[in-house]
Amino acid sequence: KKWFAVMGDPIEHSKSPAMHNAWFREKSIDATYIPVHVSSESLESAVAGLKTLGASGWNVTIPHKTAIIPYLDELDELAEKMGAVNTVVRTKEGTLKGYNTDGVGFVRSLEEAVGKSHKDKPVLLIGAGGAARGIAFAMQQQGYENLTIANRTVANAQAIVDEMGTGQAISLTEAEATLADFGILVQMTSAGLATGNFSMPFSLDRLTKGAIVADIVYNPLMTPFLQAAEEKGATIVTGLGMFVHQGAIAFEYWLGESPNTNSMIAQLKAQLG
Ligand code: ATR
Repeated sequence: KKWFAVMGDPIEHSKSPAMHNAWFREKSIDATYIPVHVSSESLESAVAGLKTLGASGWNVTIPHKTAIIPYLDELDELAEKMGAVNTVVRTKEGTLKGYNTDGVGFVRSLEEAVGKSHKDKPVLLIGAGGAARGIAFAMQQQGYENLTIANRTVANAQAIVDEMGTGQAISLTEAEATLADFGILVQMTSAGLATGNFSMPFSLDRLTKGAIVADIVYNPLMTPFLQAAEEKGATIVTGLGMFVHQGAIAFEYWLGESPNTNSMIAQLKAQLG
C-alpha cells in the first residue's frame, strides 16, 4: 500500500488529507494520506523519517516550504526559481525530488474560471511574499508577460521583478491610482486573510468593470477583497480552485494520473459555504 502525507505546523486544519483520500477512493487507488505535525526543529529528522518509512511522496506547507530544500536531493526547475517546495516525490531511484505546484495550480484555476484568452492582459499582482513569488514565476512561465507587482515594501516586489527579468514593481498607492490599467488582479498579501485585524491592501474604487479579480485565500471563500471587487462588477476567482489544483498536480506527479478537480471544488465549496 502506498502512503502520502502533508507536513506542516500547524497542520490540523489542512484539508489536503480529506481531499487526497477522497481521490484515492474515487480512483480505487490502494493508498492513504496522513497529516504529520512537524516543528521547525524536527524538520530534518522528519524528512529522514518519512524517507525511511517509505512514504511515496508528501506535501509541504507552512513553515517548511523553503527550509526543506537542503534535505532534498533534487529540485524541479520552477521550485528552484521559487525557492520553495510544496510537493516531494520519491523517485524510482529512491531519491527525493522537490516540486512546487502552487503557482501552476493558481494558473489552472484562473484559466478554468475565465479561459486561456487573457494572457495579454496587464496583470497586477498584489503582494511580494512567498506565495506571490510562486505565482509570479508560474504566470511568467505560462505566458503571462505583462506583470506588475505592487507591494507595501516596493523593494520586495523589485527583487522578484529583477529575478524574473521582466515586469515592474510599484507601491500600493501607485497601484490604487493606476488600477484602471489592469485587466487581471491577484490578491496575495497576508493582509487579505480575514483573521485578526483585517485590512484591505488598498481601495478598489478605480477598478474597471470587466476586470478579473482573484484571491489566493479560500477560507473564507469570499474574502473582503473579492467582495469589494464583486460590488464593482468584476469577475471573481476564489482561492479554492488554486488549492484543489495544486493538490491535483501533486497527485499527477505521484501517481501519473489526474483526479477529478471539478467535483472536489464543488464538495469543498459546499463545506465552506
Ligand atoms: P506568504 O507566504 O503568505 O506570501 P509572506 O511571505 O509573509 O506570506 O508575505 C506577506 C505579504 O503580505 C507581503 O507582500 C507583505 O508585504 P511586505 O513585503 O511589505 O511585508 C504583505 N503584507 C502583510 N501585511 C500587510 C499589510 N498590513 N498591508 C499590506 N501588505 C501586507
